[in-house]
Amino acid sequence: MPQLNVLVVGATGSVGRLVVSEALRRNHKVRALVRNASSARLPEGAEMVVGDVTKPDTLEPALEGMDAVVLTLKADGQGRAAAEAVYYRTFLDILAALGGRSLRIALMTTIGVTERHGHYNRTNEGHDWKRRAERLVRRSGLPYTIVRPGWFDYNAADQHRLEFLQGDRRHSGTPSDGVISRQKIAEVLVESLTSDAATRKTFELVAETGPAPTDLNPLFAALRPDPEDALDAVLDLDNMPLDQEPDRVRRDLDLISRYRATA
Ligand SMILES: NC(=O)c1ccc[n+]([C@@H]2O[C@H](COP(=O)([O-])OP(=O)(O)OC[C@H]3O[C@@H](n4cnc5c(N)ncnc54)[C@H](OP(=O)(O)O)[C@@H]3O)[C@@H](O)[C@H]2O)c1
Repeated sequence: MPQLNVLVVGATGSVGRLVVSEALRRNHKVRALVRNASSARLPEGAEMVVGDVTKPDTLEPALEGMDAVVLTLKADGQGRAAAEAVYYRTFLDILAALGGRSLRIALMTTIGVTERHGHYNRTNEGHDWKRRAERLVRRSGLPYTIVRPGWFDYNAADQHRLEFLQGDRRHSGTPSDGVISRQKIAEVLVESLTSDAATRKTFELVAETGPAPTDLNPLFAALRPDPEDALDAVLDLDNMPLDQEPDRVRRDLDLISRYRATA
């Protein structure tokens, strides 16, 4: 397995710290982006870099020398501005910091990300901004995997069998949409970085009753890739028309397409 230099963004979080450990376990070199060096607790072997995704000038040094980035962010507070800044603008700033270099991306969003009318999305547009970030990732032309996990650690003791779903049709906004352990999310994100079969795939990740798979590659390989130039994942609902998107979002998509053309 090739060893990668992996930046983890969200590295002190409940999933991100497992991503750091899992990537180290697989002999990757891990750099963890943290906002507060004095309170961050990282596993031995991880390099720490201080940064904040809302401060774009901190991203270039963080990305220096990296082959891959795993993003497991959660915006502080419930506001729309934080959701836009943390889930969405981060990716524009990462692209600018890369200056044309390539980077393997593993992005965690959420099951139900295409659901727009529930309480959560009406409160802070968290789904919409995560989905817009997914769209930027797809349009960037960079190699990526987008993982949309179910509800964290609601799985029963015998629910280890992984199901990779596509189409994002589970919209109840409760654990009945699907459950998954944080550890498995971390494993899937890290494994995707070195799996050709995971490239340009977007899927919901849930666990059902049964044993854990020993090899994730057949699961990645069974998925349909997102079409080239698609905004949304291959089987997603067409419920976010581009002509109804904010002007700045449409401008960003134009910009990113030009970035892709020149990269
Ligand atoms: N809970 C569920 O069942 C569930 C299911 C599906 C999806 N999700 C999604 O999963 C995410 C939550 O994951 P989690 O539990 O791992 O979150 P978490 O424990 O709250 O961690 C969030 C991470 O983001 C970092 N962060 C926040 N703002 C930042 C900034 N401006 N710059 C740099 N880093 C920043 C935090 O750093 P600090 O340590 O500095 O704060 C922390 O490392 C959410 O987006 C949620 O919607 C949750």
